[in-house]
Amino acid sequence: MKSVKDYIRTIVDFPHEGILFRDVTTLFADPRGFRMAVDQMLHPYAGMQIDKVVGLEARGFILGGAIAHQLTLGFVPIRKKGKLPGATLSESYTLEYGEAVMEVHDDAIQPGEKVLLVDDLLATGGTAEAGIKLIERLGGEIVGCSFIVDLPELGGRKKLEGLGMGVDVLCEFEGL
Ligand code: PRP
Ligand code: MG
Repeated sequence: MKSVKDYIRTIVDFPHEGILFRDVTTLFADPRGFRMAVDQMLHPYAGMQIDKVVGLEARGFILGGAIAHQLTLGFVPIRKKGKLPGATLSESYTLEYGEAVMEVHDDAIQPGEKVLLVDDLLATGGTAEAGIKLIERLGGEIVGCSFIVDLPELGGRKKLEGLGMGVDVLCEFEGL
């Protein structure tokens, strides 16, 4: 039987020469693959007390929406700068390919709410760290951070664990 990892395509030299891009669109496009990924991501959290699922733009929305629906929870987007219409909090972060800013609505999470943070891939951990800071600034308590892919050579998992986070990943890829 195919595993989640088997559905992920690798594109050589995207977005630059020398980068192996782990492309989850082939996983999302497959009905068995997508369901398997969503089911495996939410499995450790089923039955746990969670108030909200937070997804990181853009690929974290696809997974976070499906997980929130399956767990009958609300979904909160963390978006790239300038996209959210209400009052926001912002955090800048260093991405694998540059600098960026993430934002969350300042009323999206109430103090003490338990939050599951979701994205497709953990590389340096900069994006997820920005998300963690935003959730914590709103008083949310993060019950876990869930990703499909970890790239261990980039150290994201260690970074998040160093912040006291529980991290779940479905697979790892060696080689950048
Ligand atoms: C990718 C990926 C993660 C992030 C991981 O998103 O989807 O969100 O990079 O990198 P990091 O751990 O080094 O921060 P990207 O910013 O390319 O944008 P997208 O999801 O909107 O396509
Ligand atoms: Mg992303």
